[in-house]
Amino acid sequence: MNKQPVEKKILEVRKTFKERFGDTDGLRFFAAPGRVNLIGEHIDYCGGLVFPAALTLDTVVAIRKNGTPSTVRLAATTIDGIRTFDVKDIEAARSLDWGNYQAGVVRELLALGIEVGGFDACYLSSVPFGAGLSSSASIEVSTGLAVSKLFGGKLSGAELALAGQRAENTFCGVNCGIMDQFASAMGKKDHAILLNCGTLEYKYVPLDLGDNVLILANTCKKHALGASKYNERRREVAEGLAEMQRIERSRGVSEPHKTLCEYSVAELREYMCEISDPTVMMRVIHVVTENARVKEAVKVLEAGKLDEFGELLRKANNSIRYLYEATGSELDAMFDAAVSFDGCVGARMTGGGFGGCTVNIVNASRVAEFEEYVGTRYTAATGNVPEFYVCETGDGARELLI
Ligand code: GLA
Repeated sequence: MNKQPVEKKILEVRKTFKERFGDTDGLRFFAAPGRVNLIGEHIDYCGGLVFPAALTLDTVVAIRKNGTPSTVRLAATTIDGIRTFDVKDIEAARSLDWGNYQAGVVRELLALGIEVGGFDACYLSSVPFGAGLSSSASIEVSTGLAVSKLFGGKLSGAELALAGQRAENTFCGVNCGIMDQFASAMGKKDHAILLNCGTLEYKYVPLDLGDNVLILANTCKKHALGASKYNERRREVAEGLAEMQRIERSRGVSEPHKTLCEYSVAELREYMCEISDPTVMMRVIHVVTENARVKEAVKVLEAGKLDEFGELLRKANNSIRYLYEATGSELDAMFDAAVSFDGCVGARMTGGGFGGCTVNIVNASRVAEFEEYVGTRYTAATGNVPEFYVCETGDGARELLI
């Protein structure tokens, strides 16, 4: 994992800023992290409970006003040149090869009444792209915080998260839920966030893993959320909700539940066999049982029962693998290798799926052994070389004061 101290990140992004934009007068620095989701997968858009933690991997942005009324100039340490768009014609930014997350966020800030003018910004990201660790949310949230602060906006963490989500939904074509942006905006070091995505109520839960650490195992198969099955799953669960409501009404209930996660496991058992499409039925079973698993997982974690927490992670993985079918051969090979390692307390895929990472709870003294064991088996099964990061939790979006 990228252990670069924050001072080094600031120096690096400042250097690139100077190379691209000439000087660094009036520069401010902001950061927003990626996240790992511990349990509660693919249910944020069903009003469910999720349990993510912000990472120390983050996107750092160096930013200042550039004195123009509406010209935005963007750069990044890993991308050549400068991308430009005009605040008065954000639609034109859709054709940029890079910079549309930022443009989408600026559009949302304008809609919130923030008078965004011209600015220059340079990005440095340590969140691996396409690894299911919310690199896009970290760009959206860091941009939202930086630009709103620069132009006098005062947004709460939740408002920042919602603006980022709307940008991704309407400007970038991914119909994502609120989990990633919320974790990026609101994360807290050494804690995970139990978030009710239906109400946005949340609580911080200390992430006490005893002698164990979290290891992220990257399949190095990039997931492409937009192009993948993500939006298809959203359509399937919308159909699932309509089916459950129909069945509920047929039982004489005049006001059925409004989201899938409001259904209890008992109600699921009663209604599910009447869902006509078997695929939709599997998706609904995943959503309702996953929501129940999150409640249970937080309870056992708070009680210090780490083995039970790990067991729930494994069950959650099987549900997303066999019922929600959002994993794929790479994630499956990584998971299978991890759970056959005797020092692994729990493992599951994390994030949108179809590639990306698994998250593993492993005894701190056996990290190297785990990586060797799982890496060898994963490569033998898939031909890919994985990457491992021992993961630290960190704080949510903030200004970096030097
Ligand atoms: C992606 C989305 C989130 C969430 C997860 C799956 O990360 O951005 O909103 O749906 O997938 O839990």
